Amino acid sequence: MKVLVVGGGGREHAICWKLAQSPKVTELYCAPGNAGIAQVARCVPVKATDVEGMVNWARDNAMDFVVVAPDDPLAMGMVDALEAAGIPAFGPRANAAVVEASKAFSKGLMKKYGIPTARYETFTDLEAALAYVRAQGAPIVVKADGLALGKGVTVAATVAEAEQALREMMEGRKFGDSGSTVVIEECMTGPEVTVLAFTDGKTIVPMPSSQDHKRAFDGNRGPNTGGMGAISPVPVYTPELARRCMDEIFRPTVDALRAEGRTFQGVLYFGLMLTPDGPRVVEYNARFGDPECQVVLSLLDTDLMDILQACVDGTLDRVDVRWKKGAACVVVLASGGYPVSYEKGFPISGLDEAGKTATVFHAGTRLDEQGRYLTDGGRVLGVTATGDTLDGAIGAAYGAARHISFEKMHFRTDIGRAF
Ligand code: AMP
Ligand code: GLY
Repeated sequence: MKVLVVGGGGREHAICWKLAQSPKVTELYCAPGNAGIAQVARCVPVKATDVEGMVNWARDNAMDFVVVAPDDPLAMGMVDALEAAGIPAFGPRANAAVVEASKAFSKGLMKKYGIPTARYETFTDLEAALAYVRAQGAPIVVKADGLALGKGVTVAATVAEAEQALREMMEGRKFGDSGSTVVIEECMTGPEVTVLAFTDGKTIVPMPSSQDHKRAFDGNRGPNTGGMGAISPVPVYTPELARRCMDEIFRPTVDALRAEGRTFQGVLYFGLMLTPDGPRVVEYNARFGDPECQVVLSLLDTDLMDILQACVDGTLDRVDVRWKKGAACVVVLASGGYPVSYEKGFPISGLDEAGKTATVFHAGTRLDEQGRYLTDGGRVLGVTATGDTLDGAIGAAYGAARHISFEKMHFRTDIGRAF
């Protein structure tokens, strides 16, 4: 099969790495890809958000299957457009990807179907939103409705902080149209766990639990990032909790979407908080998380292509999805200054040495004329290792990361230990 993966970060490198191991995949392409992805797939210079360009390229080059990994093209309807062109595509259609693209939609869905989540109200009027925050008091959570690169959420410790966030979103248009509608939520407490699940719209296959580390610095300090590292599985997520989440959250969500005429096929991302009152949904995403994908796929023992095809064909109940025992850890090596401002173009050393004991997924790299790898993004690499135990995986990831260096490199030293 000729397979195209859409995207160009660490998540897409992990997907390509796994698909390259499938005997079914004879030719693998990635658009736009990056220098690391080019080790396992041919990179195609089409932007991930260029829906028309992507469909044309896939059709002209006779792709048998396309995997749409990032949120933006999913929300824009890339899967719908590929299907309309007769090309099987993995990922939710736009009407189901809305679980991520609109927080107001997903909160409404949870309320209607009794899926546990934080209490909330939705506002389009600034004065009404301010009055609500003053009446509720702090702590309180303010969220822009639409996609905001993971930065549209303020967990406000004071009413003043919540007011400022509302003004920036609704008056200052900090996130453009994404912030013209806001969701204001009750602040929940407890450990956060991600569960990614494959689904064909009926059958749900949860992957091992994982945990992202979103803050830039050790001890969960500093600004929110796309994710500085992850582990899988998460010790606090017990089999008992997994059963409860399946009954109270995963199955009701997939069934609700189908009942609403928005059948979801793809990877559904459950961002959960294990509150004193039980597990609750913090957010849904319509795709693999990055960097959760890197650890979870490292533990997958089944041919990924079989699973992706079954999700599209509606035959996921017939696939035996198996996972390796043990655990995985990814440590993200970022450019100093990320996520605020950072430089690019520094040579990277030590990749070969690190690759002997870990898998180094590239998030933002490019090759120079001499064939050396240069930094080319905020998140640069994700050093990923597995082990018999979580401690073993963490030790192996950091052991391999020690070999890598580039100017102004920054990483967290407490991945898997910060909670
Ligand atoms: P989201 O983009 O919705 O995942 O929110 C980003 C982060 O904000 C989450 O990972 C949580 O750490 C935090 N957060 C979001 N909603 C809440 C809430 N209702 N209570 C407490 N923390 C929250
Ligand atoms: N790592 C969080 C996300 O991909 O949204």
